[in-house]
Amino acid sequence: MDAHGNSATSRRNFLKYLAASPLLAVGAKIAKATGWDEDPASQALVKQWLEPMPETGGVIGSPGQAISIFDFERAARRELSAAHYGYLATGMDDNASLIANRTGFSNIQVRQRRLVDVRTADTTVEILGETWPSPISLAPIGQLNTFYPDGEFEMAAATKRTGHQIILSTVATATVEEVAEANGRPIWFQLYPMWTWDVSRGFIERAEAAGCPVCVITVDNPTDGTASTLQRFKRLDDATCSDCHTDFFERKPMFDGLDRSLRANHGNFRPGLTWDFIEQVKGVTNMKVVIKGIETREDARLCVESGADGVIVSNHGGRAPGSTRGTIEALPEVVDGIDGRIPVLIDGGIRRGRDIFKAIALGATAVSIGRPFVWGLACFGQAGLEAVLNMLTREFERQMKASGLTSVDQIDSSAVTMR
Ligand code: FNR
Repeated sequence: MDAHGNSATSRRNFLKYLAASPLLAVGAKIAKATGWDEDPASQALVKQWLEPMPETGGVIGSPGQAISIFDFERAARRELSAAHYGYLATGMDDNASLIANRTGFSNIQVRQRRLVDVRTADTTVEILGETWPSPISLAPIGQLNTFYPDGEFEMAAATKRTGHQIILSTVATATVEEVAEANGRPIWFQLYPMWTWDVSRGFIERAEAAGCPVCVITVDNPTDGTASTLQRFKRLDDATCSDCHTDFFERKPMFDGLDRSLRANHGNFRPGLTWDFIEQVKGVTNMKVVIKGIETREDARLCVESGADGVIVSNHGGRAPGSTRGTIEALPEVVDGIDGRIPVLIDGGIRRGRDIFKAIALGATAVSIGRPFVWGLACFGQAGLEAVLNMLTREFERQMKASGLTSVDQIDSSAVTMR
């Protein structure tokens, strides 16, 4: 019975409304993507992607319209297919580490000092013999052409202008030589330890010959996990993906000339990898070696003992199976284990200049960003990526000034307090 005492009419009207409503279609798609089990974090990401986007308004149409980097995230949701957005946005299992990477920052607050002359502030940092315009580098992200045509070249065109450092993924869709040339300065190379030493060595020699001063070795995936949310996104995508995804590793250009035949016997992951590998790499290269994926004090010490020149606190952006701990929460113990001997970088969940400031205050020398630069790239190529870097650098500078600090080396633990 409705307010006018007419129950049949109102029910009919309601059903008509539902049938016409995009909400019903969304509901059906969510059911398709999520199956029957309950996984709220997964469903939230899928729902967010399905949320109808206005043709105009509400979504930025140029980098200049962005107010924060989250405007690029929203626009990237409109640009990318379900499976490609899923590849970018999701974490492992129930996304617990992905979520913790963000929430960890809210447990830290900034202590602000007043009445300091902050008309200018210097955001540059020195790291491993390089000077960066701000403590931001680009984390290695595989196959950037998934997100934008010639993605790696667009990235290099952007960093050529901004001066930020690139860490090029092993599974990039362009070669280390090409990207270094487009960047106009040497870049860092990220190495996944390969299924045989000879293949790993092939990468190391090639990166060194291309002028890379630093080799970043990723060690956080001894096993695979269940990429549940990505699987749900894939169910929403009707595209035939095999053209791009067959032989995921071997088809990447950096594998040219290397022995691809043995991979089938070894798989993508290296459960047998031990600290000897770091010493082995150090033994064949003059590049500095940075270890990516460290989360504990004990491993931090072992990095130094193995001869590493730096570490990156990372859980692969919540994609390494296991921890459920935000990287910002792991940072203090890693800094403690390193004890000032080599630089510590951190990635995971860094979305604002304030997050960068907090990481530096807790002992990081610099940070890397992953998804945020891809949001900018996916929407507007070089211009979008450049805008993200400039926006985060500006926010970081403002946070320094708001805290009464005018150079990065002034930022220490007294600048923050923990909840
Ligand atoms: C990654 N990451 C990654 N790491 C790595 O060492 N080699 C790689 O090829 C990739 N590829 C990759 C693809 C995608 C789509 C994502 C989201 C992540 C991990 C990456 O370097 C970094 O650790 C995280 O992205 C940092 O977290 P945020 O900034 O994305 O939250």
